[in-house]
Amino acid sequence: MDTNKRPDSMARITTRELADAFIAEQVKEIQAQVGDKKVLLALSGGVDSSVVAALLIKAIGKQLICVHVNHGLMRKDESENVIKHFQDGLNANLIYVDATDRFLNLLANVSDPERKRKIIGKEFIEVFADEARKLEGVSYLAQGTIYPDILESIKQAEGKKAVKSHHNVGGLPEDLQFELVEPIKLLFKDEVRVVGEALGLPHAMVYRQPFPGPGLGVRCLGAITRDRLHALREADAILREEFDLCGLNEKVWQYFIVVPDVKSVGVRDESRYEGWPAIIRAVNTKDAMSATIEEIPYEILHKITNRITHEVDGINRVLFDLTPKPVGTIEWE
Ligand code: XMP
Repeated sequence: MDTNKRPDSMARITTRELADAFIAEQVKEIQAQVGDKKVLLALSGGVDSSVVAALLIKAIGKQLICVHVNHGLMRKDESENVIKHFQDGLNANLIYVDATDRFLNLLANVSDPERKRKIIGKEFIEVFADEARKLEGVSYLAQGTIYPDILESIKQAEGKKAVKSHHNVGGLPEDLQFELVEPIKLLFKDEVRVVGEALGLPHAMVYRQPFPGPGLGVRCLGAITRDRLHALREADAILREEFDLCGLNEKVWQYFIVVPDVKSVGVRDESRYEGWPAIIRAVNTKDAMSATIEEIPYEILHKITNRITHEVDGINRVLFDLTPKPVGTIEWE
C-alpha cells in the first residue's frame, strides 16, 4: 500500500469528533512506531509543526525533543510565543537556538531573492544539524508534512517549473539519517486546523496566516540590513495589531509589510527626515495560486499610516499595494 496516498475512503476531518478519533488513532500509531526512542522536531511555530508537536507531546511526552531555530527573520514576539506556549505551557522538551547572527552575517550584501532563499534554507539545515549532532540516542525525525506538500512534490517530480523555490528545507546531511514520523501527511490544511483546535492549541496559533520559511528575509527587499529589518518588524507588528483590533485578521488571508531598499525625503520635527516606505500588502486567495486585494477602509489605513510613521524609526511613508496575483506574486521577492 502506498502510505503517501490518501485512501478514497478517508473521511474529511471537519468536526471535533472526527478530529478526536484521528488524534486517538495517531497517538497509538506514534507510540507503536517509536516505542521508547527519542524523536526530534524542528518547531517553527507554524500551524503544521505546532500541530505535530502537540500530537507527539500527547503521545510520547518528553521523548520528543523540539528545536526552535530563530533565524533572526521571525516576526515580532514570534519566538517568544513558541517558547511560552510549548515550554512554559506544555512543558515540552524544547531547545531554543538564537542563530540571528549566523543568518544575518551570511545574508549581508546578498540581494538576489533566490540566493537569499537558498542561503536561509541551507543555513537552517546546518543549524538544526549542529543541534541534532549534540543529542544522543535520537532515532526519529518528526515532520509537519501535509498532503499538499506530497502533491506538490509529485508535480515537481513530473518536471513542472516553479516561479519561486518555496521548498524551504532540503534533506539533512548524510551522517544524520533518521526514520521519519509524519503524522499529518495525509491531511489538508483545513483538517490540520481542526485537529490543532481539538489538541487545545490556541486559536491564534491554529488560524495563523501563512508565513514563508525565509520569513521577513523576503520582505526586507534586496540586501538585508539590521536597521531596515528592525523597521520592517516593528511596522509589521503595528499592522497586525491594528488588523486584530478591527477584526480584519479573521477576514484577510495574508497581510504584511514590505520594506524596499529605497529612501525618500520627508519631514519629522520640522527637519528633513530621510526614510524608507513601508508597503502594506493584504491579499485574499484560496490556494495562493492567484490572489485578490482586500479593500481596507480608509480610516484604518490612516490610523496604521499615522502609527507607523510616528512610532517606527526609519519609516517616513506608508503605501498600499493594489496589485493582484497575477501579475504580482503575493510576496515581493
Ligand atoms: P507567492 O509570493 O509565490 O507566494 O505568490 C505564495 C504563498 O507562498 C508563500 N511563500 C513562501 N513560503 N517559502 C515558503 O514557505 C518561501 O520561500 C515562500 N515564498 C512565498 C507566500 O507567503 C504566500 O503565502
